[in-house]
Amino acid sequence: MTDNRPIGVFDSGIGGLTVLREIWNAVPGESTIYFGDNSRAPYGTKSRSTVIRYSLQNMKFLESKDVKMIVIACNTASAYAYEELKKRANVPVVEVVTPGADKACRATRNGKIGIIATKGTISTGVYKEAVERRAKELGLKDIEIFEKACPLFVSLAEEGWWDTEVTRLTAEEYLKPLKEAGVDTLVMACTHYPLLSKVIGEVMGEGVTLVNTGEATAQVVKDLLDSESGSSRPVREFYTSDEPDLFEKVAAPFLGEGLPSGTKHFNTDRYEVTI
Ligand code: DGL
Repeated sequence: MTDNRPIGVFDSGIGGLTVLREIWNAVPGESTIYFGDNSRAPYGTKSRSTVIRYSLQNMKFLESKDVKMIVIACNTASAYAYEELKKRANVPVVEVVTPGADKACRATRNGKIGIIATKGTISTGVYKEAVERRAKELGLKDIEIFEKACPLFVSLAEEGWWDTEVTRLTAEEYLKPLKEAGVDTLVMACTHYPLLSKVIGEVMGEGVTLVNTGEATAQVVKDLLDSESGSSRPVREFYTSDEPDLFEKVAAPFLGEGLPSGTKHFNTDRYEVTI
């Protein structure tokens, strides 16, 4: 029987819309429910226990909507909370770290992989471990990983400064050590970074492959679904823990097409969770 229940997707706010966009591209017949925890964003600067608590609450909300799968469309939440969510979820949980790591390992030619992300994600070491694990599985030898937290990129993306002089200067400063290290593959391990990919790509220079973890994650979602899954009239719902109007205004550029409308307000902090 066709399973037309929606896919639940959550993020700390709007960044996860770059992942949602890729999911829509990969599986256009699927209904989706997106939850942006805008009132508690950013997650990238919060502690591990806080991000785990928020993520469990967001998961409870999506499960209450009878979703068939949960996508953690946030690198920080994936890095801190995936194991905990997987243990407690009633449905499959997809995170963004492993798909990004896999893509990076397949893309590199000189074995030098750069990872850029929020401070939180970098501090967990989860990406580095995922790349090392995947490289081993693929039989790649002499992999070298270079990590760099680029916290200002999140604000620049939200400000809409995707291709400005300030963004270029910031990128030059952040990416300098990765360029000097000679990485040929750079994982954009934060939901916001793909919006800055033009500048990031130009600063890194030709010959450096940028890995968009959203794209890789959407492929994992597709592979997990039955080919019969979905419907001819998919529904796309949005919830935010902040003001719906504000969410829709800021979300528009992140989504490209398919602008959100009818966004509803919901606070997931009403859910009791124990860690
Ligand atoms: N969504 C977050 C991530 O991918 C970036 C924004 C935040 O810090 O909340 O890590």
